[in-house]
Amino acid sequence: MAKSQTHEKILRSQEWFGSRDLEGFLHRAGLKNQGWSEESFAGKPVIGIANSWSEATHCNSHLRGLAEHVKRGVIAAGGFPLEFPTISLGEFFLSPTSMFCRNLMSMDVEEMIRGLPIDGVVLLSGCDKTTPAMLMGAASADLPAIVLTGGPQLKGNWKGEELGSCTDCRRYWSELRAGNITQSDYDSMESAIYRSPGHCMVMGTASTMGAIVETLGMSLPGGAAVPGADSRRKILAEESGRTAVDLVSKGIRPSSILTTDAFDNAIRILLAAGGSTNAIIHLIAIAGRAGITLDLDRFNALSESTPVIVNLKPGGKYLMEDLFYAGGVEAVLKKMSGLLNLDCLTVTGQNLGDNIADAECHNDDVVLSIKSPLAPEGGLTILKGSLAPDGAVIKHIAASPELMKHTGRAIVFENSIDLKQRIDDPDLDVTKDDILVMKGAGPIGGPGMPEAGFLPLPKKLLAQGVRDMIRISDARMSGTAFGTIVLHVSPESAIGGPLALVQSGDMITLDVEAKLLDLLVDPGELQRRRDNLAVPPVDGGFSRGYGKMYSQHITQAQQGCDFDFLIGKTPVETHVGALTHDPGFHTG
Ligand code: FES
Repeated sequence: MAKSQTHEKILRSQEWFGSRDLEGFLHRAGLKNQGWSEESFAGKPVIGIANSWSEATHCNSHLRGLAEHVKRGVIAAGGFPLEFPTISLGEFFLSPTSMFCRNLMSMDVEEMIRGLPIDGVVLLSGCDKTTPAMLMGAASADLPAIVLTGGPQLKGNWKGEELGSCTDCRRYWSELRAGNITQSDYDSMESAIYRSPGHCMVMGTASTMGAIVETLGMSLPGGAAVPGADSRRKILAEESGRTAVDLVSKGIRPSSILTTDAFDNAIRILLAAGGSTNAIIHLIAIAGRAGITLDLDRFNALSESTPVIVNLKPGGKYLMEDLFYAGGVEAVLKKMSGLLNLDCLTVTGQNLGDNIADAECHNDDVVLSIKSPLAPEGGLTILKGSLAPDGAVIKHIAASPELMKHTGRAIVFENSIDLKQRIDDPDLDVTKDDILVMKGAGPIGGPGMPEAGFLPLPKKLLAQGVRDMIRISDARMSGTAFGTIVLHVSPESAIGGPLALVQSGDMITLDVEAKLLDLLVDPGELQRRRDNLAVPPVDGGFSRGYGKMYSQHITQAQQGCDFDFLIGKTPVETHVGALTHDPGFHTG
């Protein structure tokens, strides 16, 4: 047998552990130092467990325990587990916004996969940005990989009412501001909603990304909906560990799974689930790493033939725990199978059609039929027009039907601070027919495109019973939020997009059916305003560090907000003899 053929069968990790020289001595010693015998790892596929556990990311705080179950699966399948931490991005604590650090986390994941002595990797994620960041890094490194999310929280329960995080926190916040509940009522809701491990349990960004990962084929069937507190998630973790070993032996890489057809499936589940607007940005970014360009128009094209069949908040009625009992994402995929590319390969080694062949639905009100859906078309619409030449998005499934076609007067806020200072001013000239506009919250202006698009309604209108108005910004919005809210306006105001030119009193037209967002101002007047527009600094005000790099390389929403230099992939070689670098060693 030729030497090169022999080498093809030797795992990449053996480059670290296989040689009987000083390098091999030190690499093996690094494991023996932790109490592993050589029999535990010699010649075995090494499976990295990239863990985004953190006490500062409450949605991922149980992943440390879950990793132990992944290890059981890896060892049972004849592999050796090597757990390592990644940075972790929590929605609640991280400033200025977790989105600001999504690409940083993706770089961390990619470089750890690239740099560590592993043959495959299990990606442990949960909270909103952690799942796309993991997938982006894994797609660029292209080593065999499987995602395991932490699962959703159990339903909240407050005074006998089932509550979903954080849709109902926002709903009751409006009621508090309107004076309909007391501060003490609101305070007592805090622990009643967030009562168990896992991520938000409405069809917010984390749940949407879980469903997308399962549909893409990058997690095991059933992976999205099992609650974080359910023992079956531990079993799923064990199975994910076993599967990772299997992926290595079969040589199945993300690039075999993340195909154009698979991304069409992912867009379909996003639309059918009435999922988060954030997922549009994340999908474009993940696809970009896989070498696939996802155009915003593709979302509208697929939307026309994808009904909303998942009846979950914020657009519907139920919560993720209900979806789990109804059969999970598999039940959804089964009901919409006629719309899917079923021959896409998945981490099971089978195609999507095989994975869902035996799926059943146990509650037809949670997962509706294609023939009597919640809405005949997908829950999201991409808008374009003179106010958003490069696109904007509205989650119309969670909006007010009477505002779907509306022309109104703009009430403009220059940024979130301006909004905070004036929104509750009793003298603010505003009616329910006006359109609230906020600038300065895009990828650069935010910075990090904060989830600030859910603009609060003026207190005086809340007191009059108003619960929704059209709101427009270049910000994002939490997937758990609701209302007639236009987001991701591009180009953003900070780089001189038309949004920067809007003034209070201008008229704006929103027409969701026509997919239109127009600023009704004379072009000559707009040019005059543009001539007087201050040009923002290209570094976003950062003089050094990550912020400076971020500002110089971040792309706009329709490009996925990835860094321009991260798009695409540089696959890690999986076998000795094919390595493009020396793993190196240190003698201390
Ligand atoms: Fe983590 Fe909602 S705060 S998913």
